[in-house]
Amino acid sequence: MEFEILHKDLMGRIGKLRTPRGVVETPTIMPVINPNLMSLGADEMKKYGAEMLITNAYIIYKKPNLREASVKNGIHSLLGCEMPIMTDSGSYQLSEYKDVEVSNREILEFQQRIGSDVCVPLDIPTAPYVKRKRAKEDLDETLSRMREARNIIQTENGVLAGVVQGSTFLDLRRKSAKHVAEIGFDVYAIGGLVPLLESHQFDTLVDIIVASKTNLPLNAPVHLFGAGHPMLFPLAVALGCDLFDSAAYALYAKGKRYMTEGGTRKVDSLRYLPCSCPVCSSYSVEEVKESEDLLASHNLWVTFEEMRTVKQSIAEGSLWELCERRCRAYPALLNALKHITAYVELIEKYDPVTKRPFFYLGAASAHRPEVLRYSYRLNRFKLSGNVLITATETKKSKSTSKEEEELENENYDYDHLFFVKPPFGPCPVELKESYPVGQSEIPMEVDSDAKTVALENVLKLLKLNKGKAKFVFLYDDRSWEHPLIAEIEKYAEVEKRNISAQNPVDV
Ligand code: GUN
Ligand code: ZN
Repeated sequence: MEFEILHKDLMGRIGKLRTPRGVVETPTIMPVINPNLMSLGADEMKKYGAEMLITNAYIIYKKPNLREASVKNGIHSLLGCEMPIMTDSGSYQLSEYKDVEVSNREILEFQQRIGSDVCVPLDIPTAPYVKRKRAKEDLDETLSRMREARNIIQTENGVLAGVVQGSTFLDLRRKSAKHVAEIGFDVYAIGGLVPLLESHQFDTLVDIIVASKTNLPLNAPVHLFGAGHPMLFPLAVALGCDLFDSAAYALYAKGKRYMTEGGTRKVDSLRYLPCSCPVCSSYSVEEVKESEDLLASHNLWVTFEEMRTVKQSIAEGSLWELCERRCRAYPALLNALKHITAYVELIEKYDPVTKRPFFYLGAASAHRPEVLRYSYRLNRFKLSGNVLITATETKKSKSTSKEEEELENENYDYDHLFFVKPPFGPCPVELKESYPVGQSEIPMEVDSDAKTVALENVLKLLKLNKGKAKFVFLYDDRSWEHPLIAEIEKYAEVEKRNISAQNPVDV
């Protein structure tokens, strides 16, 4: 199955996935169609923006009438829809209810027989935090079923997903991903995550995605099993997930929960409908409270809306900023975003080198890939003679030339002039207008993280040019007092400039 990548941002991508039933643009979410109750018809999913569906082959296999109809006329006829359909194997039923009476081979041959566009082997979803021995045994069995699956469905006769398991053991996740990549599948899926998603352990989710993704082929689509809440899409896509499935829209509606891109509300607690989807703009809050179908429909609208927002962010290079905004909605998400910064060296390798202007939005902005990349490039400055580095206010009002003039008037004599711009650090005056430092929007009052990173980079520049140039570090003690200045003093002549005395704050 071909997968063509069109745009990239962070580790996220917009891709075109060629399936036996047409091209699907990723990232996308596949609504889960329950073949037992098709109150929301499969074909109706198109209007929300669905390009592909997922259903459960095991549920169909178990019910004689559904089984017969799907064997006779195919899965597309059963669901009444010509979109590409992925079929899951019943693994989740196996892990939840232990009632699966079907073999890997049986369920794979069945999926093939009913014309599934993407088949899934019978993997074993191991719960988080089980004993290692258990996770390892389950994984060995899963891997042996993956090998068997590849022998049953060869590349030329169907599209097959390879599933990554391994519970919360990151080395097992890595091993699992490496093995499925070696076997070779058309799509890769990361499984066993539902309990983590339900308990909002998004930081652990980040670790598992990274451990898996870094061992899977880059040019293949990756499905994150069970992640149907839109609040997760920006982060998961930023880490390289392309396919999602959502039973959540229906399950949440059943539980009277109203989805928003930032979290979930109890519909009964709403006085207003804070959404303009076709449901929320044509029905009253009372009507939505009383109808599970209306609520499910609203949930689908916001789910697809958020996926389009994610895609637009990739196309324009603002996915980090979207993550920053969305992660503010929920502490566990904010935690996960901060946790992602532990992987910024990895993300930097994939992240495009030029983008639209950089918006500093706090939380984790000081650790963005652009900032790390800037620190990597400090060794490109070859300095000699007298170097003046000034850390003053980040106010825009003063033009660069005015600042230069002032410094000259104060009898500073230099061969090179650097301004310290948080979070990047030392920026030569010649590059003050160029990307990324010169094209960044930084709040006037930056947080201490941004200053710390900026001063670390000053220190790095000083160390790189130790003995080659003579440095003066001039700083405004009102906005730049910082423990790292003591360290800077070892490499530069440090002058404190009492700006507050010169420019009292206007009231
Ligand atoms: N649906 C949710 N989680 C899983 C999983 O781990 N494996 C499969 N096959 N389906 C799932
Ligand atoms: Zn709505």
